[in-house]
Amino acid sequence: MTATRTSIHGQWSSRWVFILAATGSAVGLGNIWRFPYVTGENGGGAFVLVYLLCVALIGIPIMMAEILLGRRGRQSPINTMRTLAIEEKQSSHWSLLGWMGVIAGFLILSFYSVVAGWTIFYIIQNAGTGFDGLSAEDISALFDSLLASPQTLLLLHTAFMFLTALVVSLGVKSGLERAVKFLMPSLFILLLIMVGYAISTEGFSDGLRYMFEPDFSKLSGSSILAAMGQAFFSLSLGMGAIMVYGSYLPSNASIVNTSITIAFADTCVAILAGLAIFPLVFTYGLEPSSGAGLIFVTLPVAFSQMPLGQILGTAFFVLLMFAAWTSSISLLEPAVAWLSENQNMTRVKASIVAGVIAWVLGLGSVLSFNLWEDYTFYGMTYFDVMDKFTSNILLPLGGLLIAIFAGWLMRRQSSQQEIATSGFFYAVWKFLVRVVAPLGVSLVFLNAIGVIGG
Ligand code: TRP
Repeated sequence: MTATRTSIHGQWSSRWVFILAATGSAVGLGNIWRFPYVTGENGGGAFVLVYLLCVALIGIPIMMAEILLGRRGRQSPINTMRTLAIEEKQSSHWSLLGWMGVIAGFLILSFYSVVAGWTIFYIIQNAGTGFDGLSAEDISALFDSLLASPQTLLLLHTAFMFLTALVVSLGVKSGLERAVKFLMPSLFILLLIMVGYAISTEGFSDGLRYMFEPDFSKLSGSSILAAMGQAFFSLSLGMGAIMVYGSYLPSNASIVNTSITIAFADTCVAILAGLAIFPLVFTYGLEPSSGAGLIFVTLPVAFSQMPLGQILGTAFFVLLMFAAWTSSISLLEPAVAWLSENQNMTRVKASIVAGVIAWVLGLGSVLSFNLWEDYTFYGMTYFDVMDKFTSNILLPLGGLLIAIFAGWLMRRQSSQQEIATSGFFYAVWKFLVRVVAPLGVSLVFLNAIGVIGG
C-alpha cells in the first residue's frame, strides 16, 4: 500500500524548511549548555569520542527511522504508531510508544524552560550593566544569587514557557522558517568568534587536549550511558519530536540526506561550543566538572575580558535563547498535535493545556536550586533527576523501540518505499537500525547497571 495520507496539521513548504525546523529543534541548549557541562562531568576526551560514535551509529539511523515513521503515519506520534502498527499487523499498543514520548516531552520541557530562563536573565544582565570589571568569582556569585531566588527563576520560567506555547499555538510552521534561517547562521558565526577568542587564551591547548585526548580510565559505565543520553538529547531523538516534524515532510524529500545534514550541523555546534568553553575553564582556573552552571560562569568571564564583550555577550545570549525556543516548541508539538487530533481542541487551547502541564512540572526544577536544594535522590536534586532520567533512560528506551519497530516489524516494502534510496544505502541503514542501534542501546544499558563489563 502506498502512503497517501496527508497531515491535518499541514506540511512544510519544502524539504529545506524541514531541515531548518529539525535543525532548529536539534540545536539548542543541548549543544551549548548541556554538552560542555556533561562532558566536564564525565572527564572529557573519552566521553566525547563515545558521544560521536553514538551520534553516528545509533543517532543517525534512529533519526531516519523516526522521520520515516512520522511521514508514513502523518499524525501525532501516538496516532502514527497506532496506525502504522495496525497497517503492519502488529499490536495497536505500539501507541504507548507515542505516549511515552509525550510524557518525556513534558518532563524535558519542564526543566529546559528553567534553563532557558537563565539565558533571558543573562540577556538582561548583559544589556544592562554587562560583566565589565567583574572577576570570575563575582560572576559565579551572580549566578548563585540567580539560583537562590525562586521568584526570579519562576518569572523567567513562566516567560519562556509562554513563548513556547505561543509559537506552538500559532502552528509550528509560521515564523519558524524566518527565525531559523537567520538566527542559526548568526549563532554559528558568534560561536566561531568565541572560539577565536578561546584560541587567544593561554588555556587553549589544555582545553583542546581535555576535549580530544581520550583517557579511557575515566570512562565508566555511567559515563558511557551519559554519552549516549547526550546524543539522543542533542539530536532530539527518542520522544517523537522528529517524528512529528517528519509527519509534515513532503513525500519526495530524501530522508537519508536530510538526517545526515541535521546530525552534522548539530554535532558541529556542540563541538564548537566545547572549543569555546573549555579553554576558558582552564585559563581562568575553573572546574570542568562544576555542573549545570558551567557556561553561565565561563562565558561571561570571556565577555568581561574581550573587546566589544557587552555587545557580543548580549547577542550571544539572545541567539541562545532563540535556539532554545526553536527546540522547546518541538518538545510540545507531539502533545499538542495529539490533543487537537483526539480531544477536538483548537491548537490554541491544546497549547495552553500542554504548556500549563509542562509549567507545573517545572516548578520542582525552579525550587530544586533553592528551597528544595536538600531534597535529593541518590544525591540528585529534582532538576538533576529530570535531566538525567529523561536523557539517559527515557530517550534511549524510546529510540530502542523505534528501531525495533522500523527495523524488524515493518515490512521491507514499507520502509524501503519511504527511505527511497539505492539498495546499498538502504541495506546499510537496515543493518544499523536492526542490529547496531538496538544492540548498542541495550549493551550501554546493561553495562551501566553492571550486568556486563566492569
Ligand atoms: N535537542 C534540543 C537541544 O539540544 C532539545 C530538544 C528538543 C529535545 N526537542 C527534543 C531533546 C526532543 C530530546 C527530545 O537543545
